[in-house]
Amino acid sequence: MTTPAGHVYVSRLLTDGAMARLRALGLPLRIGDDNPPTREALAAGMAGAAAAVVTLTERVDADLLATAGDGLAVVANVAVGYDNIDVAAARAAGVTVTNTPGVLDNATADHTFALILAVTRRVVDGDRFLRSREPWIWGPRMLIGLDVSAGATLGIIGYGRIGRAVARRARAFDMTVLASTRSRTSGDEDGVRFVDTGTLLADSDVVCVLTPLTPQTRHLIDAAALARMKPTAYLVNTARGGVVDETALIDALTAGRIGGAALDVFENEPHVNPALLDVPNLVLTPHIASAGEATRDAMGILAVDNVAAVLSGRPALTPVR
Ligand code: GLV
Repeated sequence: MTTPAGHVYVSRLLTDGAMARLRALGLPLRIGDDNPPTREALAAGMAGAAAAVVTLTERVDADLLATAGDGLAVVANVAVGYDNIDVAAARAAGVTVTNTPGVLDNATADHTFALILAVTRRVVDGDRFLRSREPWIWGPRMLIGLDVSAGATLGIIGYGRIGRAVARRARAFDMTVLASTRSRTSGDEDGVRFVDTGTLLADSDVVCVLTPLTPQTRHLIDAAALARMKPTAYLVNTARGGVVDETALIDALTAGRIGGAALDVFENEPHVNPALLDVPNLVLTPHIASAGEATRDAMGILAVDNVAAVLSGRPALTPVR
């Protein structure tokens, strides 16, 4: 690789495997730390950079791209979702944007399934109950949940790579699987039936949201969507917080209009609406769906490899188009 004029800015410490790949580039590096950079630190790190490796906590907008200067060739996001980046502004500035599709499908599907089982089979309720130190004895009516593998129906909204990985797991649990996508609302594929989103909401015992956050999907799950769900159904969101109207979800859970929910993502991360902490039948995790050890290495390595490709004049491996 010919040495570019600028440095490679890395907004946060990545995993050891990804940091090793980064150092192996042999390029001048400026590396942030464990915490997200302030806006000022982000701008300072990007100024004069040839490449930036950022995470979903960094907002890369037109102003920031302007601060970076003309030498910036690539912004590599260490995430499959890229709603934190103004892709149109990057394109206009001649900057390639890349993301990390593929390498996190299984980890994200595993966590989605972990949340499905945790909320439907009341794993967290049980854990909390024991920690309350209440005396207890086994009972036939105790902590009863949904029989996931007795023909329960899983509805997957957004049937991309991660949706397919979730569907594979659901089939192993003998679930009926429905899916809805923008492009497909009928037909079958690999044991999955495609339906429109309204039908999916009405017919599913568990609705799982796996769409990217775009202006079209913001608040896709709003009060009306929640009202279409069965009163016993569960909602699981491992996509982006903004896809679900949190206030409407809080209302639905408080009123017992749905069976429960599990969220890995939040509308205003890292802020978690305090009302979410008090509503019943809700399992929460802090945006860790892709946090498998090998997966997080693979995400960082793919971001670094994208930087290496672009700075060598080759096409990016996984460009955002
Ligand atoms: C994580 O949320 C990702 O988009 O990779």
